[in-house]
Amino acid sequence: MLTIVVKDYRELSEKAAAVVAGALKGNPALVLGLATGSTPESMYARLVDLYRQNTVSFARVRTFNLDEYAYIPAGNPQSYTYYMKKNFFDHVDINPAYTHLPACGRKEDVKKTCSAYESEIESAGGIDLQVLGLGVNGHIGFNEPGPHLQVKTHLVTLAEETVEANSRFFDSPGQVPRQAITMGMGTIMQAKKILLLASGRAKAGAVEKALNGRVTTALPASFLQLHRDATVLIDEEAANLL
Ligand code: F6R
Repeated sequence: MLTIVVKDYRELSEKAAAVVAGALKGNPALVLGLATGSTPESMYARLVDLYRQNTVSFARVRTFNLDEYAYIPAGNPQSYTYYMKKNFFDHVDINPAYTHLPACGRKEDVKKTCSAYESEIESAGGIDLQVLGLGVNGHIGFNEPGPHLQVKTHLVTLAEETVEANSRFFDSPGQVPRQAITMGMGTIMQAKKILLLASGRAKAGAVEKALNGRVTTALPASFLQLHRDATVLIDEEAANLL
Protein backbone atom coordinates (compact mmCIF):
# COMPACT_ATOMS: atom_id res chain seq x y z
CA MET A 1 0.00 0.00 0.00
CA LEU A 2 1.33 3.40 -0.95
CA THR A 3 0.52 6.21 1.48
CA ILE A 4 0.64 9.82 0.33
CA VAL A 5 0.19 12.58 2.89
CA VAL A 6 -0.71 16.03 1.56
CA LYS A 7 -1.17 19.29 3.42
CA ASP A 8 -4.91 19.80 3.34
CA TYR A 9 -8.26 18.98 1.75
CA ARG A 10 -7.60 21.23 -1.22
CA GLU A 11 -4.35 19.49 -2.09
CA LEU A 12 -5.97 16.10 -1.52
CA SER A 13 -8.76 16.94 -3.98
CA GLU A 14 -6.32 18.18 -6.62
CA LYS A 15 -4.11 15.14 -6.29
CA ALA A 16 -7.11 12.76 -6.36
CA ALA A 17 -8.41 14.43 -9.54
CA ALA A 18 -4.91 14.18 -11.04
CA VAL A 19 -4.83 10.43 -10.33
CA VAL A 20 -8.20 9.97 -12.08
CA ALA A 21 -7.13 12.21 -14.99
CA GLY A 22 -3.87 10.28 -15.31
CA ALA A 23 -5.73 6.96 -15.45
CA LEU A 24 -8.04 8.43 -18.10
CA LYS A 25 -5.10 9.52 -20.23
CA GLY A 26 -3.81 5.95 -20.16
CA ASN A 27 -7.25 4.52 -20.91
CA PRO A 28 -10.00 6.82 -22.23
CA ALA A 29 -12.52 3.95 -21.83
CA LEU A 30 -11.73 3.62 -18.13
CA VAL A 31 -14.11 1.72 -15.83
CA LEU A 32 -14.23 3.99 -12.81
CA GLY A 33 -15.59 3.08 -9.39
CA LEU A 34 -16.90 6.11 -7.52
CA ALA A 35 -17.77 7.20 -4.01
CA THR A 36 -20.13 9.85 -2.65
CA GLY A 37 -20.01 11.74 0.67
CA SER A 38 -18.13 14.90 1.61
CA THR A 39 -14.61 13.68 0.88
CA PRO A 40 -14.71 13.39 -2.94
CA GLU A 41 -16.87 16.50 -3.50
CA SER A 42 -13.95 18.80 -4.40
CA MET A 43 -12.30 16.05 -6.43
CA TYR A 44 -15.43 16.03 -8.61
CA ALA A 45 -15.35 19.84 -8.85
CA ARG A 46 -11.73 19.67 -9.95
CA LEU A 47 -12.51 16.97 -12.55
CA VAL A 48 -15.29 19.20 -13.91
CA ASP A 49 -12.70 22.03 -14.21
CA LEU A 50 -10.32 19.72 -16.07
CA TYR A 51 -13.14 18.75 -18.43
CA ARG A 52 -14.00 22.41 -19.06
CA GLN A 53 -10.35 23.11 -19.83
CA ASN A 54 -10.46 20.27 -22.40
CA THR A 55 -7.86 18.35 -20.43
CA VAL A 56 -10.03 15.24 -19.97
CA SER A 57 -13.07 13.65 -21.59
CA PHE A 58 -15.44 11.19 -19.94
CA ALA A 59 -17.22 10.30 -23.19
CA ARG A 60 -16.07 6.68 -23.15
CA VAL A 61 -15.86 6.21 -19.37
CA ARG A 62 -18.18 3.81 -17.56
CA THR A 63 -18.82 4.40 -13.87
CA PHE A 64 -20.00 2.21 -11.01
CA ASN A 65 -20.81 3.81 -7.68
CA LEU A 66 -20.07 1.99 -4.47
CA ASP A 67 -23.50 2.34 -2.95
CA GLU A 68 -26.97 3.83 -2.83
CA TYR A 69 -29.57 4.08 -0.08
CA ALA A 70 -32.18 1.36 -0.40
CA TYR A 71 -35.69 2.25 -1.63
CA ILE A 72 -34.90 5.95 -2.05
CA PRO A 73 -36.35 7.57 -5.18
CA ALA A 74 -33.62 8.64 -7.66
CA GLY A 75 -35.03 12.20 -7.69
CA ASN A 76 -34.73 12.52 -3.91
CA PRO A 77 -31.99 15.11 -3.23
CA GLN A 78 -30.55 12.80 -0.54
CA SER A 79 -30.04 9.93 -2.98
CA TYR A 80 -26.54 9.20 -4.21
CA THR A 81 -27.95 9.18 -7.74
CA TYR A 82 -28.89 12.83 -7.23
CA TYR A 83 -25.53 13.62 -5.61
CA MET A 84 -23.62 12.18 -8.59
CA LYS A 85 -25.66 14.16 -11.11
CA LYS A 86 -25.37 17.37 -9.12
CA ASN A 87 -21.64 17.09 -8.37
CA PHE A 88 -20.34 15.42 -11.50
CA PHE A 89 -22.40 13.70 -14.20
CA ASP A 90 -24.46 16.76 -15.22
CA HIS A 91 -21.32 18.84 -15.80
CA VAL A 92 -19.19 16.55 -17.97
CA ASP A 93 -19.56 14.69 -21.27
CA ILE A 94 -20.31 11.32 -19.68
CA ASN A 95 -23.00 9.18 -21.33
CA PRO A 96 -25.76 8.77 -18.69
CA ALA A 97 -26.29 5.21 -19.95
CA TYR A 98 -22.70 4.44 -18.90
CA THR A 99 -23.26 5.51 -15.28
CA HIS A 100 -24.38 2.93 -12.71
CA LEU A 101 -25.53 2.97 -9.10
CA PRO A 102 -27.01 0.00 -7.21
CA ALA A 103 -30.40 1.69 -6.92
CA CYS A 104 -33.38 -0.41 -5.91
CA GLY A 105 -36.92 0.87 -5.43
CA ARG A 106 -38.63 -2.24 -4.05
CA LYS A 107 -37.75 -4.87 -1.44
CA GLU A 108 -38.75 -7.64 -3.87
CA ASP A 109 -36.04 -6.52 -6.32
CA VAL A 110 -33.02 -6.44 -3.99
CA LYS A 111 -31.57 -9.80 -5.01
CA LYS A 112 -32.01 -9.08 -8.70
CA THR A 113 -30.48 -5.60 -8.35
CA CYS A 114 -27.43 -6.95 -6.51
CA SER A 115 -26.69 -9.78 -8.91
CA ALA A 116 -27.34 -7.55 -11.95
CA TYR A 117 -24.86 -5.01 -10.55
CA GLU A 118 -22.16 -7.66 -10.22
CA SER A 119 -22.86 -8.86 -13.79
CA GLU A 120 -22.71 -5.31 -15.17
CA ILE A 121 -19.31 -4.74 -13.53
CA GLU A 122 -18.09 -8.04 -14.90
CA SER A 123 -19.30 -7.34 -18.44
CA ALA A 124 -17.58 -3.94 -18.30
CA GLY A 125 -14.35 -5.91 -17.74
CA GLY A 126 -14.07 -5.11 -14.03
CA ILE A 127 -13.24 -1.84 -12.30
CA ASP A 128 -9.95 -0.25 -13.39
CA LEU A 129 -9.78 2.41 -10.68
CA GLN A 130 -11.95 2.47 -7.55
CA VAL A 131 -12.14 5.69 -5.54
CA LEU A 132 -13.03 5.10 -1.88
CA GLY A 133 -13.88 7.29 1.09
CA LEU A 134 -13.42 6.04 4.65
CA GLY A 135 -16.05 5.83 7.37
CA VAL A 136 -15.14 6.98 10.90
CA ASN A 137 -15.70 3.34 11.87
CA GLY A 138 -13.43 2.07 9.09
CA HIS A 139 -16.13 1.13 6.60
CA ILE A 140 -15.48 1.23 2.86
CA GLY A 141 -18.52 1.42 0.63
CA PHE A 142 -21.10 0.52 3.24
CA ASN A 143 -19.26 -2.61 4.37
CA GLU A 144 -19.71 -2.03 8.08
CA PRO A 145 -17.52 -3.53 10.84
CA GLY A 146 -18.82 -6.81 12.22
CA PRO A 147 -18.05 -10.50 12.62
CA HIS A 148 -18.37 -11.10 8.86
CA LEU A 149 -17.95 -9.16 5.68
CA GLN A 150 -19.91 -9.90 2.53
CA VAL A 151 -18.12 -10.57 -0.72
CA LYS A 152 -20.54 -9.29 -3.35
CA THR A 153 -23.04 -6.46 -3.78
CA HIS A 154 -25.65 -6.77 -1.03
CA LEU A 155 -28.26 -5.07 1.12
CA VAL A 156 -26.81 -3.74 4.36
CA THR A 157 -28.20 -2.24 7.54
CA LEU A 158 -26.13 0.83 8.32
CA ALA A 159 -24.16 0.98 11.58
CA GLU A 160 -25.35 3.52 14.16
CA GLU A 161 -22.10 5.53 13.70
CA THR A 162 -22.81 5.74 9.96
CA VAL A 163 -26.40 6.87 10.48
CA GLU A 164 -25.11 9.48 12.92
CA ALA A 165 -22.29 10.63 10.60
CA ASN A 166 -24.66 10.86 7.62
CA SER A 167 -27.36 12.68 9.57
CA ARG A 168 -25.55 15.96 8.77
CA PHE A 169 -27.04 15.71 5.29
CA PHE A 170 -30.61 15.35 6.65
CA ASP A 171 -32.89 17.51 8.80
CA SER A 172 -32.80 14.92 11.60
CA PRO A 173 -31.17 11.51 12.27
CA GLY A 174 -34.63 9.94 12.02
CA GLN A 175 -34.68 10.75 8.30
CA VAL A 176 -31.44 8.91 7.44
CA PRO A 177 -32.26 5.70 5.55
CA ARG A 178 -31.27 2.67 7.65
CA GLN A 179 -30.44 0.42 4.72
CA ALA A 180 -28.32 0.66 1.61
CA ILE A 181 -27.08 -1.48 -1.24
CA THR A 182 -23.32 -1.62 -1.40
CA MET A 183 -20.61 -3.30 -3.39
CA GLY A 184 -19.16 -6.12 -1.29
CA MET A 185 -15.58 -6.39 -0.08
CA GLY A 186 -14.79 -8.79 -2.92
CA THR A 187 -16.25 -6.38 -5.50
CA ILE A 188 -14.01 -3.62 -4.13
CA MET A 189 -10.90 -5.78 -3.72
CA GLN A 190 -11.18 -6.96 -7.34
CA ALA A 191 -10.66 -3.41 -8.64
CA LYS A 192 -7.34 -3.27 -10.45
CA LYS A 193 -6.33 -0.08 -8.65
CA ILE A 194 -7.75 1.52 -5.50
CA LEU A 195 -7.50 5.13 -4.33
CA LEU A 196 -8.67 5.67 -0.74
CA LEU A 197 -9.25 9.28 0.31
CA ALA A 198 -9.48 10.52 3.89
CA SER A 199 -9.47 14.07 5.19
CA GLY A 200 -9.75 15.60 8.63
CA ARG A 201 -9.03 14.68 12.22
CA ALA A 202 -12.24 12.63 12.59
CA LYS A 203 -10.75 10.02 10.23
CA ALA A 204 -7.32 9.80 11.95
CA GLY A 205 -8.22 6.80 14.16
CA ALA A 206 -9.65 4.76 11.29
CA VAL A 207 -6.68 5.69 9.07
CA GLU A 208 -4.17 4.55 11.68
CA LYS A 209 -5.92 1.21 12.22
CA ALA A 210 -6.45 0.65 8.48
CA LEU A 211 -2.78 1.22 7.71
CA ASN A 212 -0.99 -0.14 10.77
CA GLY A 213 -3.45 -2.45 12.46
CA ARG A 214 -4.23 -6.09 11.91
CA VAL A 215 -6.45 -7.08 9.01
CA THR A 216 -9.82 -7.51 10.66
CA THR A 217 -13.53 -7.49 9.83
CA ALA A 218 -13.81 -5.04 12.74
CA LEU A 219 -12.18 -2.47 10.44
CA PRO A 220 -13.06 -3.26 6.82
CA ALA A 221 -10.54 -0.76 5.35
CA SER A 222 -7.72 -2.83 6.90
CA PHE A 223 -8.29 -5.35 4.07
CA LEU A 224 -6.77 -2.82 1.68
CA GLN A 225 -3.40 -3.88 3.11
CA LEU A 226 -3.91 -7.07 1.06
CA HIS A 227 -4.55 -5.25 -2.22
CA ARG A 228 -1.80 -5.22 -4.85
CA ASP A 229 -2.27 -1.64 -5.97
CA ALA A 230 -3.90 0.50 -3.29
CA THR A 231 -2.95 4.11 -2.70
CA VAL A 232 -4.04 5.91 0.44
CA LEU A 233 -4.22 9.67 -0.09
CA ILE A 234 -4.75 11.57 3.16
CA ASP A 235 -4.25 15.06 4.49
CA GLU A 236 -2.12 15.98 7.51
CA GLU A 237 -5.10 15.94 9.89
CA ALA A 238 -6.13 12.44 8.83
CA ALA A 239 -2.48 11.34 9.15
CA ASN A 240 -2.28 12.77 12.66
CA LEU A 241 -2.02 9.40 14.45
CA LEU A 242 0.40 7.70 12.05
C1 F6R B 1 -19.99 6.74 0.05
C2 F6R B 1 -19.35 5.64 0.77
C3 F6R B 1 -18.87 5.81 2.17
C4 F6R B 1 -18.17 7.14 2.41
C5 F6R B 1 -17.73 7.25 3.86
C6 F6R B 1 -17.04 8.58 4.14
O1 F6R B 1 -20.32 6.36 -1.27
O2 F6R B 1 -19.23 4.58 0.24
O3 F6R B 1 -18.01 4.76 2.49
O4 F6R B 1 -17.06 7.23 1.55
O5 F6R B 1 -18.82 7.11 4.70
O6 F6R B 1 -17.97 9.61 3.95
P1 F6R B 1 -17.52 11.14 4.01
O7 F6R B 1 -16.64 11.37 2.85
O8 F6R B 1 -18.83 11.92 3.89
O9 F6R B 1 -16.83 11.34 5.32
